This record gives sequence, structure tokens and C-alpha cells, in this order.
Amino acid sequence: MTEEKVLIIDSEESACNLVKSVLSSRGFQVSVAQTAGVGLHLQEENECQLIFLDLCMKDLDTRYIVRELKRRDDRIALIIVGYPDSANLVQEALNLGASDYLYKPLRSDEVYFKARHALELRQFTTNNSKALKGIEERNISLQKQNLLLARRIEESTKNLSRLYEDLRETYMRTIKALAHALDARDHYTYSHSDNVTRYAELIARQMNVDMNYIEDIKDACQLHDLGKIGVHDSVLTKPSALTPEEFEEIKQHSQKGAQILEPLKFLDNVIDIVKHHHERWDGKGYPDGLKGEGIPIGARIMSVADSYDAMVSARPYRKVGLSVNEAIEEIKKNSALQFDPAAVEAFLKVVDKF
Ligand SMILES: [Fe+2]
Repeated sequence: MTEEKVLIIDSEESACNLVKSVLSSRGFQVSVAQTAGVGLHLQEENECQLIFLDLCMKDLDTRYIVRELKRRDDRIALIIVGYPDSANLVQEALNLGASDYLYKPLRSDEVYFKARHALELRQFTTNNSKALKGIEERNISLQKQNLLLARRIEESTKNLSRLYEDLRETYMRTIKALAHALDARDHYTYSHSDNVTRYAELIARQMNVDMNYIEDIKDACQLHDLGKIGVHDSVLTKPSALTPEEFEEIKQHSQKGAQILEPLKFLDNVIDIVKHHHERWDGKGYPDGLKGEGIPIGARIMSVADSYDAMVSARPYRKVGLSVNEAIEEIKKNSALQFDPAAVEAFLKVVDKF
């Protein structure tokens, strides 16, 4: 390699000459300083890559010279030259950042070998630090891109959940509107579903039911008789007693309601409540004849609320509904038969708020 610059700082002329002769003949550009002061000055001017530094400079302390050279260029290749009895000082210089050392008397082959080795090490360090810098820069750029992507994903997720909520809301509004229309067809007051919803919520709160599940109960109350969409008007509005076949047709409505809602997977709990709102505590209800705590609690609560509102409302077969007290007595009478006793107990505590 040519044009690499070397500086020799050594007070011994013979040593300077030997190093200069070896390295000049190999194509290095060599400067020589026989005092440390001149050496530091020349280094400032020439910016050499390699320095041979004699440990025994008289004008400046070796440790100071090493520190100063490293401060100016921390990648400088610095070879310390001393005598074997100066091993401690050599070690100190190495600790301060010198690359290597040589002991006098110097040998030509060793001088060249150490010079080459120190410069290669310097080159290697330079390349490494460039590569590290490149990696660091790429890392920073990747981190920025990651952050940007994370923000975009967060935003898209928010938009998607908003869309999902809107869609869910629209579905629910449509189905609830349909259920309300069915209430009217069944000759209930238009507010039957709303009444059942309000009563069931009060009972559920009294029973300390989980708040999320209370929301499911409320949705189920709004939709509970949706299955009546498939029941003929002549049966639904019949003023006289139903034949066994007609009663069977009416009984289909809880299961049909659940079937209509089945594709809406987010309504799983709601569907379960709708399907079982005519089960009885004693197991004599429909569609599955479930018994006691085998019936979903939402369905047990709704059953009380639904029955109470049916009792106090006018029906096709009964022009005037029962009074509040008569309905309460009827509910009490059916506790542990038709109704969950715990739901009845809670009902009795909140009925004055209906
Ligand atoms: Fe029903």
C-alpha cells in the first residue's frame, strides 16, 4: 500500500533512521520528530495514520503524548518503542489506547510487520465503525417506519372496530324494530319489549348479575318473541282457547327466534336466552324442558319479567289485564314451579320501581 503516512517521534537518531529506511523503502511517506513537541505539531499538519513513539521523550510526559494523540484521532495506529526494562510504562501506554509496542534494539522485519499489522487493525476498526454506523442508521430508520406502521395499524383497527360497532348497531336496530312491530301484531302494547327489558334489568341488578351479561339480557328482552313472525295471525290473535295444535304452533316461537338470530355470532348469549325464555323451573317448559339452574339465568329472569307484563296487559282472550297486586300474587304462587325462586325474590324487591 502506498502513500500511507507515518510519523516517528524518537530522540535516538539511529532508531529514527532505521524505521524511516524500512518504511520509506516500502512506499510509506515518513516524517521524523526528535522531540515530542515537534512530533505533535507534525501530526497536526500531516495527519499520519501510524506513529512510532519512543517512551523516553524528554520534553513531554509519555502518558500525556498518548492521550493527546488519541484525543486528536482515536483510531490512530500507535506503536510504543521502549526498552525491556520499561515494561510498566509500555503497559500504561497500551491501557491508554496504544496499538502495539516494540523493544530496542529494533529489527527491520519486526518494524515492518508491526507497522503493517497496526495499520490493518486500524483499517479494520474504521470499517467496523462505518458498518456499525450504517446499521445504527438503518435501525433508526426501521424504528421510524415501525412506529409509522404501528400508528397506521392502530388507526385502521380503530376504524374497523368503529365500522363493526356501526354494523352491529344497525343490525340490532333493524331486528329490534321488527320485534316491536311483532309486539303490535300480537296485540300487546307497542312498549311490551321495552317493559320486559326494563323489568328484567331491575331484577338482574338486584341479583348482582354481571353488567355485560345484563346487556345481553336487555337485548334478548327486546328480541324474545321475534319467532312469532312465523305464527299465523289467526292463532296469534285468537280470542278463544287455543287447540292443542295451535298451542304447539305458538310454542315454536322461542326456537324459531333463536334460529333467525343464529347467523349473528356476536349474539350467542342473547340467542341462548331467547331460545329458553319459556322454560320452567320445574322442567315443564319448552322447547327443551330444561330445569332449575340448567336454564340460563338470563332466561329465568326474563321469564318473570315477560310473564308479569303479559299479566298486567290486555290480551286477545282477556280485555283487561290483571291488577299489579293480582299479578304479584300470581308470580309468588308460581315461585319454584314456573319461576326461579331467586328471580321471584328479586322481582318482589324491585316491582315497586316498575
Ligand atoms: Fe315468548
